[in-house]
This record gives sequence, structure tokens and C-alpha cells, in this order.
Amino acid sequence: MTIVIVSSLPPEVVLLTSHRPTSTDLSSVTSALRGAGCVFAEDEAAAILDAAHDASHLADMVERRVAGTPLEQILGWAEFCGMRIAVAPGVFVPRRRTELLVREAAAILQHGDSGDRVSPGRPVVVDLCCGSGAVGAALAACRDVDLYAADIDPVAVRCARRTVQPAGRVLEGDLFDALPVSLRGRVAVFVVNAPYVPTDEIRFMPAEAREHEPHRTLDGGPDGLDVHRRVAHGVGGWLAPGGHLLVETSGRQTTGTVEAFRAAGLEPRVVHDEEIDATVVVGRADGGWRPGAVLPALTEDR
Ligand SMILES: C[S@@+](CC[C@H](N)C(=O)[O-])C[C@H]1O[C@@H](n2cnc3c(N)ncnc32)[C@H](O)[C@@H]1O
Repeated sequence: MTIVIVSSLPPEVVLLTSHRPTSTDLSSVTSALRGAGCVFAEDEAAAILDAAHDASHLADMVERRVAGTPLEQILGWAEFCGMRIAVAPGVFVPRRRTELLVREAAAILQHGDSGDRVSPGRPVVVDLCCGSGAVGAALAACRDVDLYAADIDPVAVRCARRTVQPAGRVLEGDLFDALPVSLRGRVAVFVVNAPYVPTDEIRFMPAEAREHEPHRTLDGGPDGLDVHRRVAHGVGGWLAPGGHLLVETSGRQTTGTVEAFRAAGLEPRVVHDEEIDATVVVGRADGGWRPGAVLPALTEDR
């Protein structure tokens, strides 16, 4: 067994390594993480020990975590809807509350707002502002959909491709500019977790987010709703008749997101999950599309 003392960690922290982590390893790493303020220190320590190839890899991971790097960026994956989603440095870490977006979209795809029966077919789903691609990937894992994901950030696009392709396509560009024109009027469901933190409030966020997630993944403009307004305003030409737009928002910003939907002619409904503190605004386009309806074949992708 090798003993490695990590110099920049507190002196009482000694990392012991062998091929199999021991309970002493677990308690050493746990105490280092707890000392750095990690709330779930023991769970995190177990995940880090499980991922470590050798002593220096372990020491490096502990040091980065103690310095505030998000655990998911260190491990290279985040758990989301029971899946392991690849997360690269600089890519937004999918949050548990965003699982509500997946749940609501899955329910709509299965039953529709009014409890319609499912019929066969592959509805087009777009995960706009996809980041790691977690939302679209989780939806595609539980519903048979024709999935597109898009993000403005090339780092996020590269990361999402690892998860979403080949089952779906990941495109790069500013909101709807990323999408092939052949999707106009054909999208059954847009799932959108866009940036919605008011610019001036980013400085109050935990250091993990503020310092390790690029501000363009968080910054929603002066009141946080700039992207929500742009999405609601632009979605009309892309939705199939009766298609749905689902946007994650915060409890405090719900009224503003609802107003953006109304201004764009989408009748909103609000879904809230107290347990995971999640809010999603759902809007439905007028017309006859029903979940499972067979949509025309894709002919003119660009
Ligand atoms: C809050 S993160 C959410 C990522 C992912 N949807 C999730 O839930 O994990 C917002 C994402 O929106 C992307 N984004 C910001 N502005 C955008 C724009 N104008 N067009 C497309 N993507 C944008 C960012 O790059 C970032 O990946």
C-alpha cells in the first residue's frame, strides 16, 4: 500500500491508496471534502475513490474538489434521470430540478395535455440550449422521438454529441438559427432550460457555478428572462399545430416567463414540484397535432 501526502491539503489529510480503496481512504477523503464545505462529503468521496486510477489521480481529484471544482466536472459525468451524462469542463452541470422538464415532456408525448391516447409515430423533439444534452437524452431514453439538440457554445455541442449521437443530432447556433429549415412547423415538443439568472445576481451564486460554469450558461439578462422571451417569440414558426413549448424557470420568475408565453400567443400552464424546487411553464400551440401523430418525413435538412 502506498501512502501519499497531499501537500496543499490540510495536514491531517493523508490519502492511502491501494488497488481497492479502504475504509481509511474513504474517511481521509471524506474529511478533506467535509473540511472544504462539501455537504455530501461521504458520497462524493466514494465517487472520487471509485473513479481514481491511481494515487496521483486520486490526489489531483481531491485537490480540485477542495478548490471548488464541481464534482461532476472532475468525474466527467453527472447523474441525471438515472443516467450518466458526460460533462466536460466549461459545460453546465445538469441539475436535479431539471428532471421535471423531462417528466412533463414525457407525459405530454405519451398522453397530451388532455389525456389523448398514444398512437405510433416519432414526434420531433428539440432540446434547445442543450448544454450537455442531458434533457434530450433522458427524454429519448424513455420515448421514441426524433431528437434534435442545439446550443450556441461549441464546447457544449462537442460534449452533447458524446451523449446524444447517434440517436439524435446536435447542432450549433443561436437558438432557432441552429435548426434545419425542414423542422419548421414540425416540432412536437421543445424542451428548454435556457440561462435565466438575472445578470446582477450571478455574483450571489455558489462559487461552484460562478467560477466553473461560463456566465453565458447562466446569464439571462437584466431580469433573467431575455432568452425566455426570445424563445417564446420565435417558437411559433417551428411548432407543429398543437405542439408544446416547455421552459424551466424559477418560482420567482414564473410570472415573467408566463407573460412571455402569453405575449407570443401560447396559453401557459405552470407545473411546480415542491420536492425538487422545480418550475416549468408549458405552452401549447393551437391546432391539431396530437402526441404520436405521424409527421412528414425529413427531406431538406441543411
Ligand atoms: C442553464 S444551461 C442549461 C443546459 C442544459 N439545458 C441543462 O439543463 O443541463 C443553458 C445553456 O444555454 C446555452 N445558451 C445560452 N444562450 C444561448 C443561445 N442564444 N442559443 C443557444 N444556446 C444558448 C448555454 O451555452 C448553456 O449550455
